[in-house]
Amino acid sequence: MKTIDELLAEGVSGKRVFVRADLNVPLANGEITDDGRIRAVQPTIAKLAEAGARVIVASHLGRPKGAPDPAFSLAPAAARLGELLGADVAFATDTVGDSAKETVAALADGRVAVIENLRFNAGETSKDDAERGAFADQLAELADVYVGDGFGAVHRKHASVFDLPARLPHAAGYLIATEVGVLKKLTAEVKSPYVVVLGGAKVSDKLAVIDELLGKADRLLIGGGMAYTFLHAKGYEVGISLLQKDQVDVVKEYMARAEANGVELVLPVDILASKDFPDLKTKAPAQFITVDADKIPADHEGLDIGPKTRELYASKIADAETVFWNGPVGVFEHPDYAGGTRAIAQALVDSSAFTVVGGGDSAAAVRTLGFDENAFGHISTGGGASLEYLEGKTLPGLAALEV
Ligand code: 3PG
Repeated sequence: MKTIDELLAEGVSGKRVFVRADLNVPLANGEITDDGRIRAVQPTIAKLAEAGARVIVASHLGRPKGAPDPAFSLAPAAARLGELLGADVAFATDTVGDSAKETVAALADGRVAVIENLRFNAGETSKDDAERGAFADQLAELADVYVGDGFGAVHRKHASVFDLPARLPHAAGYLIATEVGVLKKLTAEVKSPYVVVLGGAKVSDKLAVIDELLGKADRLLIGGGMAYTFLHAKGYEVGISLLQKDQVDVVKEYMARAEANGVELVLPVDILASKDFPDLKTKAPAQFITVDADKIPADHEGLDIGPKTRELYASKIADAETVFWNGPVGVFEHPDYAGGTRAIAQALVDSSAFTVVGGGDSAAAVRTLGFDENAFGHISTGGGASLEYLEGKTLPGLAALEV
């Protein structure tokens, strides 16, 4: 994989450099609520601009349906990038149309432009190679060189991620290099005890990674909505908690395999449960009870791990050499159910292990709960991408940069 430093050494002054970033940031009423992904790609963009490149930044945002949709415009991200760079950033209101062509043609050396959401064009995400290829051909006309730095999207076989690098000289940006270096420390070079904390709503999203981790991790701590499928598989009443009944047999097999492999699979021992899902808008105080994990009333749903579980999980993290955490362990967006997620983050901060937070939600949780990012070994910008890497899958966006 060619590095950006090698590219810079060859000289990029006056060249049009297409940077595939992941500016897929959370927005509320048009305001960016967490700009971590923009800050993460900023060094690559700044370095290219400093070296005199004409930098064209491209990304997706959300999941629009292959046509322009103002709700998913990249304009707020472009404005934030300009603030971070302390420079004017031009914005093209389309991807490969007149606006993009004119904006790129008007770019002076050392200046930066953002083009509109790539997913406004159906070719970006098409399953049809020819359709994706046709869009990649149009994107290739905008630039002389390609830099892949959208780590959060490298698991997507999309035109700008997979097909475009095949059409232009290419290199990997600083963010991709950092992320891949960290993920190697969680796979080929992992130091034991290796503890993995998995949360998030759906167990089905995590099955492949659990399958892989049952052969690698020493301990798996389960929280979040997915925990209730495990608790149900143990024979507990989980009330109206999130439950994926169709996954219960798979989960049972995982529990048996964990035991056979000597992997400690740790489940919540107590739960904050309520009859009602909290109001995340008003954040009005919630009515909840704290119960042992086998005593969730039939009309209640679990919304966070309880105090005994927080202590238990912190003790399981304390002596780790390596910790990977993906997914909040409760409805952290509401202050009454943020305690579990906060306790996990604190346990990572307190441990001397190499700690990695992966996934948009857990990364956002860490920042919105006020933790100092520097207290963690690494906060990944990739949710699905880092999980798929840990699953041992080939990631199209990395494979494309390797050839
Ligand atoms: C992410 O948020 O994980 C990445 O930006 C990829 O987005 P996607 O899941 O919509 O492809």
